[in-house]
Amino acid sequence: MPENTVDRYAFARAVLSRIPHGVAIVGAADGAERSCATGTAMYVSFSPPMIAIAEHPGSRTCKLIQRTGAFSVSFLHASQQDIAERAGKSAEGPDKFASLRIAPLEAPPDAGGAPAVADSMAVMWCVVRDSRATGDHILFTGEVKAHQVDPSKIDALLRFRRRYAHIGHETSEESPEGYPT
Ligand SMILES: Cc1cc2nc3c(=O)[nH]c(=O)nc-3n(C[C@H](O)[C@H](O)[C@H](O)COP(=O)(O)O)c2cc1C
Repeated sequence: MPENTVDRYAFARAVLSRIPHGVAIVGAADGAERSCATGTAMYVSFSPPMIAIAEHPGSRTCKLIQRTGAFSVSFLHASQQDIAERAGKSAEGPDKFASLRIAPLEAPPDAGGAPAVADSMAVMWCVVRDSRATGDHILFTGEVKAHQVDPSKIDALLRFRRRYAHIGHETSEESPEGYPT
């Protein structure tokens, strides 16, 4: 890198990488154009249920979300790391699910219409309630209109310290109420 050039990812590498995240695939579609991108999500409301995602405006998935006002979030199981690796790069062709041979899970009726990833741990189909530029990303807040959870899959795929990781062992009983959610 030339001297005096600011490395805009230095802070992300050094500090943001220390935020542990579940790995999710964000899906979106406008007719035959379908895309998916590796990312993550957090919840921002219990009632109504809402989650937030931050998407780079250059990504095809981001543009499809802006066009259609809908997205899906599929949280991946530890066995699905290869999907995270493949969806984290752009792909040729109108349908990224087909190009990358990622089996889609179609949205139920009235859930926005975005395709999700089959065999995931948990899937949420959302409609956009708010979107705003936040620095170099667009922050989308979506209301969860439909969901699907596979209770047999509990080994979440995580990202931490610029690596993929698996969840460790539990250190408490399930909370009877409140937090941890
Ligand atoms: C582990 C991982 C996490 C990522 N998280 C995000 C994210 O939160 N937001 C984002 O915009 N891109 C994220 N990316 C990058 C996108 O997945 C990548 O830019 C992708 O090529 C976008 O695909 P598209 O242009 O087909 O939509 C992540 C990539 C990886 C591998």
